[in-house]
Amino acid sequence: MSTVTDSLLKVSNLAIEFDTDEGQVRAVDDISFSVQAGQTLGIVGESGCGKSVTALSLMRLLPQPMGQIVSGSIEFEGKNLAQASIKEMEKIRGARIGMVFQEPMTALNPVKTIGKQLIESLLLHTKMSADKAIQAAVAMLDRVGIPSPDIRIAEYPHQLSGGMRQRVVIAMALICRPSLLIADEPTTALDVTVQAQILELLKELQDEMGMSVMLITHDLGVIAETCESVVVMYAGKVAETGTVYDIFDKPYHPYTRGLLNSIPRLDSPSKSVLNTIEGMVPGLLDLPSGCRFQNRCPHADETCTARAPTLDARSATHEVSCHHWLNLAPHKVS
Ligand SMILES: Nc1ncnc2c1ncn2[C@@H]1O[C@H](COP(=O)(O)OP(=O)(O)OP(=O)(O)O)[C@@H](O)[C@H]1O
Ligand code: SF4
Ligand SMILES: [Mg+2]
Repeated sequence: MSTVTDSLLKVSNLAIEFDTDEGQVRAVDDISFSVQAGQTLGIVGESGCGKSVTALSLMRLLPQPMGQIVSGSIEFEGKNLAQASIKEMEKIRGARIGMVFQEPMTALNPVKTIGKQLIESLLLHTKMSADKAIQAAVAMLDRVGIPSPDIRIAEYPHQLSGGMRQRVVIAMALICRPSLLIADEPTTALDVTVQAQILELLKELQDEMGMSVMLITHDLGVIAETCESVVVMYAGKVAETGTVYDIFDKPYHPYTRGLLNSIPRLDSPSKSVLNTIEGMVPGLLDLPSGCRFQNRCPHADETCTARAPTLDARSATHEVSCHHWLNLAPHKVS
């Protein structure tokens, strides 16, 4: 098992707020997690739980001026990114941390060829000559599975299919060989076969480059296939965190169990109809006092409405934020 000293990224007590017309809202509230060197951390949760906002904050790309990191630290390669200057972040973004954004077209400039975009990144972040940068860009396009990369390098993003475009987005994120890749729903817009190919490609590239990956998804099936550890987020908080084994074999939090029950299971007739967690994630302006999951939780009682639970350590790797986790028997969702 990795120790804390192996952490490439260590996020501690991070809180993020947005200034909105209705007032200040806290989208991410006191979350902590780390990504170990060479490993993949999965961040999972339903829509609106704060996954993308967390990722954007690590890159210091929160929408400005509304979005702000209001507390916490983001330790990465000896720096606290929460306090880093604009100049320091320019050196880190794209070079030490690569990001695959949730909306792939936002990562690509529609009026520049894909080659120009890859080469610009290399020239900005490395001392490579222009000739070497062209060669490296062609090699990276080849590596991510773009056919005839020496010809396709002159194409514009709109000339590519969705799957090919996602491969280019991954090439852009990896061209400078970052030590951390943040991939925000990298396969959501793609059909199932292409999804599997892209996930396989990411795994291969990770092994080749020895980088760490933070993979954001709403799909626990993807987490099971690709991650060593998992953070389950609910309404801007960490509900449960642990190794893949902790989360899949001994989930304690009622939300984690609900998510696991929602995974379609073709091998079990009783699970062929998708179970969903009833109700919705509360809006940031309507957060209840006490546990944020209370309106959807079958175990909620007056303790849950009175005060918010804190994260309790179940083991060295496994933490749960629920008042009643001790009374909820270890539970393997089958
Ligand atoms: N610019 C903004 N201004 C105000 N609130 C925002 C802004 N951007 C995001 N939020 C709020 O922050 C919360 C978290 O959003 P986020 O995009 O991180 O969710 P997510 O977990 O990535 O969801 P999805 O699975 O749909 O991508 C949401 O309630 C969202 O409405
Ligand atoms: S604290 Fe209460 S409401 Fe929240 S998840 Fe646990 S049992 Fe459910
Ligand atoms: Mg998102």
